[in-house]
Amino acid sequence: MKVTKAVIPAAGLGTRFLPVTKAMPKEMLPIIDTPAIHYVVKEAIDSGLDDIIIITGRGKRAVEDYFDESPELEMHLRSSKKDDLLHLVSDIASMANIHYIRQKSPKGLPDAILAAEKHIGAEPFAVLLGDDIIVSQTPCTTQLLQVFDKYQSSVIAVQDVPREKIDRYGAVTATRVPDPSHELYLVDHIVEKPRPQEAPSTLAAIGRYIFTPEMLEAMKHTKPGVNNELQIADSLNILSKSQKVYACAFKGRRYDVGDKLGYVQAIIDFALEKPELRDGILSHMKTR
Ligand code: UTP
Repeated sequence: MKVTKAVIPAAGLGTRFLPVTKAMPKEMLPIIDTPAIHYVVKEAIDSGLDDIIIITGRGKRAVEDYFDESPELEMHLRSSKKDDLLHLVSDIASMANIHYIRQKSPKGLPDAILAAEKHIGAEPFAVLLGDDIIVSQTPCTTQLLQVFDKYQSSVIAVQDVPREKIDRYGAVTATRVPDPSHELYLVDHIVEKPRPQEAPSTLAAIGRYIFTPEMLEAMKHTKPGVNNELQIADSLNILSKSQKVYACAFKGRRYDVGDKLGYVQAIIDFALEKPELRDGILSHMKTR
């Protein structure tokens, strides 16, 4: 089985970023000049997945506009001979073959992903959440695909987090599997957003997954869980009863841009990578 499709759910309400998300999708929050979802789409493309499905909902038109052509803007940039900006803008529209499917109401991730069921068909597929931006030599999704190619089973990305922060994640109980190329685990159980003192582990599931098509069936049988929302962790617990599910401790630096502190950290680090901003940022920091 080969993975060619990537599903990017972007239909959530983004309540942690209110009030801005009242009028603007969370996925469009800029990391300086580039929206978070751009990095997620790029990771999918860099991992060889060029059939991309973005799950949208009400108030998410800006996402579609961003990846669409912009003839008036391009004409203006062409006539004013701003070729570098012209390429920047037109390259985005030709990045990938993107389809948009609507989730009627944000009932949780399994429901969002199931909106793409017909497009996914009977193939394995990747899921990338816009809350996580991952900077790495090998894209995180590529690392998961390497595991999938070898084991032909679902695989989720995990990261060890401080115990006091595990209540934001699915905590994964798993057994280490010897593998020459990856820090790999066989998943036993996942507990969504446990209280730190009760968490079965500090291995946190983050927003990158490769699923076998059977995950769609597991999602259909998932009942509302934490916060009365459908949770991917509960679907994975159903799937792992009939199939192996692996967890890969990916190599890379992850920014949780769905969280205000993680968002600001991403902006600072990305700015420090830009030669035109680096010195200005550092000297500003010294004055604080
Ligand atoms: P989150 O739970 O972090 O997003 O889901 P949210 O609900 O929009 O954010 P908060 O917690 O209220 O601030 C992770 C990703 O899954 C999408 C979101 O858009 C986000 O990119 N999502 C979530 C859906 O597409 N549909 C849903 O029903 C829930």
